[in-house]
Amino acid sequence: MGLDEKLAQTLEWLKKIEAEYSPAIFANSFGAEDMVITDLIAKHALNIEIFSLDTGRLPAETYDLMQETATKYPAVPVKVFFPNAAHVEQYVNSNGINAFYESVEMRKECCRIRKLEPLKRALTGKKAWITGLRRQQSTTRTEMQMQEFDAGNGLEKFNPLIEWTEKEVWQYIRDNGVPYNKLHDQHYPSIGCAPCTRAIAMGEDIRAGRWWWENPDLKECGLHVKK
Ligand code: ADX
Ligand code: SF4
Repeated sequence: MGLDEKLAQTLEWLKKIEAEYSPAIFANSFGAEDMVITDLIAKHALNIEIFSLDTGRLPAETYDLMQETATKYPAVPVKVFFPNAAHVEQYVNSNGINAFYESVEMRKECCRIRKLEPLKRALTGKKAWITGLRRQQSTTRTEMQMQEFDAGNGLEKFNPLIEWTEKEVWQYIRDNGVPYNKLHDQHYPSIGCAPCTRAIAMGEDIRAGRWWWENPDLKECGLHVKK
């Protein structure tokens, strides 16, 4: 399947979600894939809300892109969710500001406080959520489906870019003048929190720069882990 066909299929899926799973909400991390979906929602005036989880540890470049996106797509505002301040204070004051490097448990606890709890709030009252996940991104993502029931959060989950390649994502971004994170030009194919993301070297896996000190099979923050 070429890009035109994949694009048509993605759009068809998004329209189906809009029609049958309203209220649906799109999880926007401002990564390259998510910028494609943002552009599609804006261009086709889809009735799909957008939210982003601001962990408080995002790179400056991501905040720049948030602002650029708000300026370019005023009709599709991105609702930002922050972590519970008391929980962050408790974690940081007991464990230290960068405790996530100490163990997988500490890292997961930080992700739980900064991402999973706010995600739950973002998804409350929704029938479905949408992500920019692609099958090719990681060994942990090869089995996923376009539509899955997210039992942990209790609603339908859609991955409408599931079949897209990285090259196709960039083709769309270039063809349509979509804004993107400047870190992508500095060998950061996958971007999360600043302290947990690094650039990759030639030939390294596209997610090699995420939680690089951990085992590749464990590297999920929990947003997309099947219960
Ligand atoms: S992660 O689990 O490793 O952090 P990744 O960065 O690959 O995920 O992003 C996969 C998808 O998860 C994104 O396309 C987006 O839908 C969602 N996502 C990840 N991080 C966030 C965030 N901070 N805010 C909103 N959605 C996010
Ligand atoms: Fe914390 Fe790192 Fe997870 Fe961000 S990615 S929430 S800084 S452990």
